[in-house]
Amino acid sequence: MHLKHLTLAVCVAMGCAQMAYAQTSAAPATQKAAEVTKTVAQLNFSESPFGKLPTGEATTLYTFTNANGVVVKVTNYGGIITAINTPDKNGKMGDIVLGFDNVTGYLENKSYFGALIGRYGNRIDKGQFSIDGKKYQLDINDGKNHLHGGAKGFWSVLWDAKPFKSETSVGVTLTHTSPDGEGGYPGNLKVSVVYELTNSNELTVRYNATTDKPTHLNMTHHPYFNLAGKGSILDQELYINASRYTPVDSGLIPTGEIAEVAGTPFDFTTSHAIGKMIGQKNDQLKNGGGYDHNYVLNKKSDNEWGLDARFSDPVSGRVLEVYSDEPGIQFYSGNFLTGKVVGKGVTFENRGAICLEPQHYPDTPNKPNFPTTLVKPGTEYNSKIGFKFLVNK
Ligand code: GLA
Repeated sequence: MHLKHLTLAVCVAMGCAQMAYAQTSAAPATQKAAEVTKTVAQLNFSESPFGKLPTGEATTLYTFTNANGVVVKVTNYGGIITAINTPDKNGKMGDIVLGFDNVTGYLENKSYFGALIGRYGNRIDKGQFSIDGKKYQLDINDGKNHLHGGAKGFWSVLWDAKPFKSETSVGVTLTHTSPDGEGGYPGNLKVSVVYELTNSNELTVRYNATTDKPTHLNMTHHPYFNLAGKGSILDQELYINASRYTPVDSGLIPTGEIAEVAGTPFDFTTSHAIGKMIGQKNDQLKNGGGYDHNYVLNKKSDNEWGLDARFSDPVSGRVLEVYSDEPGIQFYSGNFLTGKVVGKGVTFENRGAICLEPQHYPDTPNKPNFPTTLVKPGTEYNSKIGFKFLVNK
């Protein structure tokens, strides 16, 4: 890469917070080169024990740091992102995801905190679908429906993990083979998921899978974000790049309708406080207990890479941008958090975090008008999510 571009990349990596430094710096070329070298050297990772599973198996926590001090922690249990430390507008680092200090917290609180989701992100009506005339019954784990892959979903798997460090990134590759019939799904499914942190303050999660039988697959990620680290998210602001969403019934199964957000509390096409309309009298807000809906992203194709959502906190200045090549994003406003759980010293209060889960739409296997989630032998499933951490001064 050309030096000028490297300097620019570092400037971007500093997340606007350090922009002034980059603009006023009149350092000679040699000094800039030295800075760049230092930057690359600061990408790092370490491993530590994260506690034992009931089976006696040991889990590991991988801690990744970049040159700007951004820290991402991932465990091989459930591919869980346990912590993300990012700077606020004053450069003060803070953890922006809810989670726990050890694996026990995750075993005791099964609300998919920070977890890798599969085989199927979100709900499938009564856990049933048919492929080529053959009926499949999945685990029922959410009322009468199937949610997030069921009781043995990817969020509860002990993944094989291989951390890596390159010149431009640090991360970990997780692999797992889900056997034919697991959770009720057809096909031996070979899955790999790569987490990668760069000096541009971007964390990407790349999913790849192959199957030996036609099956439905819809992987996503489930961090609970609060850009202030604690308290309510109702004053934090959200933009979603979607003019439409999929309304749901009282069991949170899409009705099949694709509705316009304009003129409803679901319109986040201009950024505003999440709490602004969440209290409105509205049947859909009632069904979700708040926001718990799939948004139909404004994309030209079902696999176009683009900005899905921007979450921002006017007080800390922290901004999270979510990118993906998915056609939808589930926006969940932490409605099931009750204030009874404490993790990493933080009380998880009602609406104390949001989840932004890029994915295909819920219950697609039973909705012929939704973009398909069918994966066939001989083809590869590939998808990608990007989380970008920025600061508004
Ligand atoms: C998803 C669902 C929610 C809820 C959370 C986990 O976001 O849409 O209804 O189940 O996961 O609690």
